[in-house]
Amino acid sequence: MSRGVRWGILGTAWVADRALLPALRAARGAEPLAVASRTPARARAMAARHGVPRVHAGYEDLLADPEVDAVYLPLPNSLHREWTLRALEAGKHVLCEKPLALDAAEAREMAAAARGHGRLLMEAVMYRFHPAMGELVASLAGTRLRFLQAAFGFRLDAAAVPGNYRLRPELGGGALLDVGCYLVDLARWLLGEPAEVDAVWHRGPSGVDLSCTAVLGFSDGAQAALHASLECAEHQELVAVHGGGVVRRDRPFTAWRDPHDPYQLMVEAFSAAVLDGGPPPLPLESSIATLEVLDRIRAAAEARSKGRARTDGVGAAGA
Ligand SMILES: NC(=O)c1ccc[n+]([C@@H]2O[C@H](COP(=O)([O-])OP(=O)(O)OC[C@H]3O[C@@H](n4cnc5c(N)ncnc54)[C@H](OP(=O)(O)O)[C@@H]3O)[C@@H](O)[C@H]2O)c1
Repeated sequence: MSRGVRWGILGTAWVADRALLPALRAARGAEPLAVASRTPARARAMAARHGVPRVHAGYEDLLADPEVDAVYLPLPNSLHREWTLRALEAGKHVLCEKPLALDAAEAREMAAAARGHGRLLMEAVMYRFHPAMGELVASLAGTRLRFLQAAFGFRLDAAAVPGNYRLRPELGGGALLDVGCYLVDLARWLLGEPAEVDAVWHRGPSGVDLSCTAVLGFSDGAQAALHASLECAEHQELVAVHGGGVVRRDRPFTAWRDPHDPYQLMVEAFSAAVLDGGPPPLPLESSIATLEVLDRIRAAAEARSKGRARTDGVGAAGA
């Protein structure tokens, strides 16, 4: 392929409109070719805003377009597996939004499909491509990290965003999947795979977790405390404590265009891998391992809420 990678976008997601399409326009080795939506007027409007030449009437039509090389998939989390499998089947490379899937089993199936079809699949963990994060992780590599505290939260006002998939269990909503995936990815990047996992969560009326706090223990004695929330003030932090000092970062996950655009760097790295036939810059094994930890956190929080319900029942009976 001597030209750049030609991209198609499935859906008119906020993140496509605000982050990925501007990044694609600026990226080397990549160009936006087509947009598809369940509502063609929305696709036309988004294509016009970003100068995308082609609009398809639906996702299947875009996947049938032989000139689309790679697909960006920013759909609600419950649709990542299905549309990734369909895109791979259609011969496309896929950059799928975070979290890669609802759980590790789905992610393993998607990885096997990518291998089977000989196409690249990568989770769009954009903050990993910000040079400041790479430098931070490199600077901590020689230290003996003892404690990581990380948080990512904001307030999702159900009245202001009715129907938002983050509050709908059937679409893969909840704080753990939405922002907890960044926290677990960061903990694994800095500390490796946890030996122990415990967690508590608070669920809202729809059943999704609105807040989740996890504690991870690592075999070398390091520990991490991670807080994900959809019901708190806008809040992001990273505190890494080692034997010789403390490193703090504000907004470690969404330091957009400050001065680098991590979305652009991610798209360029992925497109270069497509053009060179190389592996995806973020290996699928990492995304699968993140989902394995998210699965353990979910199981721990579930077990605790069941235990709490039992204890509450005993308390009520005794009162
Ligand atoms: N990396 C980042 O910085 C970042 C930031 C935000 C979100 N994300 C991830 O990107 C994905 C999308 O997030 P978002 O907040 O941008 O989503 P969003 O604005 O709610 O958009 C999701 C899109 O999915 C399509 N869709 C298909 N079936 C749907 C259904 N049943 N219900 C709702 N939408 C449906 C819709 O497009 P059409 O109606 O046009 O077909 C919709 O515009 C999520 O996986 C999220 O975790 C990543």
